Amino acid sequence: MTFALAACGGGGAGSGDETTEPAGNGGDTAAAGDQTIGVAMPTQTSERWIADGDAVKSQLEEAGYTVDLQFANDDIPTQTQQIDQMILQEVDLLIIASIDGTALTSQLDAAGAAGIPVIAYDRLINGSENVDFYVTFDNYNVGVQQATSLLVGLGLLNADGSENPDAPEGPFNIELFAGSPDDNNAGFFFNGAMDTLKPFIDAGTLVVPSGQTDFDTVATLRWSQEAAQRRMEDLLTSTYTGGEELHGVLSPFDGISRGIITALQGAGYGPTLEEGLPVVSGQDAEIASVTLIDQGVQFATIFKDTRKLATESVRAAQAFLEGNEPEANDTDTYDNGVKVVPSYLLESDIVYADNITELLVDTGYYTAEQVEQGS
Ligand code: GAL
Repeated sequence: MTFALAACGGGGAGSGDETTEPAGNGGDTAAAGDQTIGVAMPTQTSERWIADGDAVKSQLEEAGYTVDLQFANDDIPTQTQQIDQMILQEVDLLIIASIDGTALTSQLDAAGAAGIPVIAYDRLINGSENVDFYVTFDNYNVGVQQATSLLVGLGLLNADGSENPDAPEGPFNIELFAGSPDDNNAGFFFNGAMDTLKPFIDAGTLVVPSGQTDFDTVATLRWSQEAAQRRMEDLLTSTYTGGEELHGVLSPFDGISRGIITALQGAGYGPTLEEGLPVVSGQDAEIASVTLIDQGVQFATIFKDTRKLATESVRAAQAFLEGNEPEANDTDTYDNGVKVVPSYLLESDIVYADNITELLVDTGYYTAEQVEQGS
């Protein structure tokens, strides 16, 4: 009672009585419990995005926010409608993992006009002033790691990525796959990988027999497993029917890796690495691929801990909703064509058969049973 009177007695705004505000509820902003955050995720066909959605939703709810989580089935009009709807419902903030990084300009204009902060989640949104923050991984380095794992698998580098003085001379035949051309990340992955492979290609240690090395030719729309399988089958018939052997494939995503592996096995390679299956890289540590790695089928993947990405997006959301700027650790790299978007980048790890337990089981990402069963 005394406290309430004292607070009232302090008078109006600017009277210096801000200490009576609940902690963390900066100034005039509503309490977290009154705020709703719209979370737009691309698809449920890939398990990583389900994990992302779950992690973001639960961590936001723990922080006291209400969450409207939507998946768009990898369909651009569905995602634009979902975001339109969230803006119409006056969400307080948007977290968006886009399908096509260039297709959301009018939604972002509307969000900007309504004063709704927008956080780009994992994938940058291009061509808009109204992207306030970007949480992601060091995408160029993910590409470096993908190529590194391929080189390790071929024996050209040691497992720690250092040079192998006893490396075989080769030449090794490889083929290249990139991600979806409308996803800003795909170019970063491919550039990081190609910068790493280039010295070996220039030296003649690695050869790309199909001659398909430019991004547009090797890209895989919507990261489709089926499209990757078809392209691998086509490459095998166009280039590898005269006795040439394929030794490795650069793959930017586990779904694509599994499509490639199916095509290779269908053409008589393997079925395991030991039995001659080419070395295939990956990304996302999807459980189906982790199990294939454990079984000696897929060679490696890149683990990007979605729990940490969710934590960073929640931290950024909280900062905006409390009237602050989130902390960035990169303010140079991610130019979306209109501005450089302040970003928070996380580190990723290469998963091989011998560190699955350390990276994925001991950290609670998967159980040993899940790794064994592949689901
Ligand atoms: C990218 C993402 C990758 C992978 C891919 C396919 O944007 O960074 O980790 O998930 O999409 O979903």
